[in-house]
Amino acid sequence: MGRQHVDHSDIARFAQEKVNLPRDKANTYRAQARRLREKVESYLGEHPDFTLKKILLSGSLAKGTALRSLNDIDMACYISGADTPRDVAALLEYLAERLRKAFPNFKPHNVKPQTYSVTVSFIASGLDVDVVPILYDDDPDWYGKLVSQDDGSFLETCIPRHIEFTRKRKRAHEVHFAQVVRLIKFWVRKEKRERDGFRFKSFMVELILSRLADKGNDFSDYPEALQHFMTYVARSNLRERIVFDDYYKPSAVGSFSQPVQIIDPVNPKNNASRLYTNAQADASVDAALDAGDAIDAALTAPTKKETIYYWQKVFGSSFQI
Ligand SMILES: Nc1ncnc2c1ncn2[C@@H]1O[C@H](COP(=O)(O)OP(=O)(O)OP(=O)(O)O)[C@@H](O)[C@H]1O
Ligand SMILES: [Mg+2]
Repeated sequence: MGRQHVDHSDIARFAQEKVNLPRDKANTYRAQARRLREKVESYLGEHPDFTLKKILLSGSLAKGTALRSLNDIDMACYISGADTPRDVAALLEYLAERLRKAFPNFKPHNVKPQTYSVTVSFIASGLDVDVVPILYDDDPDWYGKLVSQDDGSFLETCIPRHIEFTRKRKRAHEVHFAQVVRLIKFWVRKEKRERDGFRFKSFMVELILSRLADKGNDFSDYPEALQHFMTYVARSNLRERIVFDDYYKPSAVGSFSQPVQIIDPVNPKNNASRLYTNAQADASVDAALDAGDAIDAALTAPTKKETIYYWQKVFGSSFQI
């Protein structure tokens, strides 16, 4: 049987070797982000009217769910002030100009507005920091309007609470929650390579796994945890609304017209999957069905060769044991 050839511990080792961002790299990148944060803080200390109020690590590096293939460091920057531009392009110019003020040692071309963020280039580490603006109105819990990296719209949300939300699931399922998130994200990357137009946002992967964690899945057996994710996506057809009660009553969620409804755990009015069409949801369900079948086949395959063949259908040819 397949388990004899590839079991939990083999998947765990594959994750260590091929999927996860190595710890020393993660530490280097986090230190780089910390230096930026400290610079903004010290500039703000000396210039209390400075409109950049906070800059913090956001995204996978903040949550401990980054893949080895990480290609930039995500940070979010809170911008307040009555004269802050509301137009995204102008806002990015404004943010770039303020960042250049706070980092006088940087050459202007090292701080560059992109479509929906500002990139700060570090020559030394080779990894850029992508700074996403948040329009901030002095909310004590640090809610603000985040510029969506998908379409540039403003999303009312709360990054510190997102980090806290994920941290809570990580605490309840130490090691395994974050590991299963990374394994599923690795599967998504492979699907993106193979299926034209495939999308499955990391944030949605995390929220679906959070829901499974909250319902009692323990994730400690990786083949089983992966299968649970695939089964959930297939069974729900991705049309089941997902809501959390960490920060609001589920009854606060109104009605949405979009086919996929995975609601932001910190704002009942924000559907985190609002941009997914029926066709995209169907493609995700198909991919999950295929992956589920492949895992079943891997778990019962008679030979090692066949077992690996099926796991490669899930993770691609880099899966070797
Ligand atoms: N639609 C959204 N509504 C609210 N917040 C969002 C939304 N999309 C992204 N975010 C915020 O941006 C963060 C980064 O999301 P993203 O999906 O890019 O994942 P990531 O964890 O950075 O993974 P990756 O490794 O793919 O970059 C999320 O943790 C969340 O705080
Ligand atoms: Mg990211």
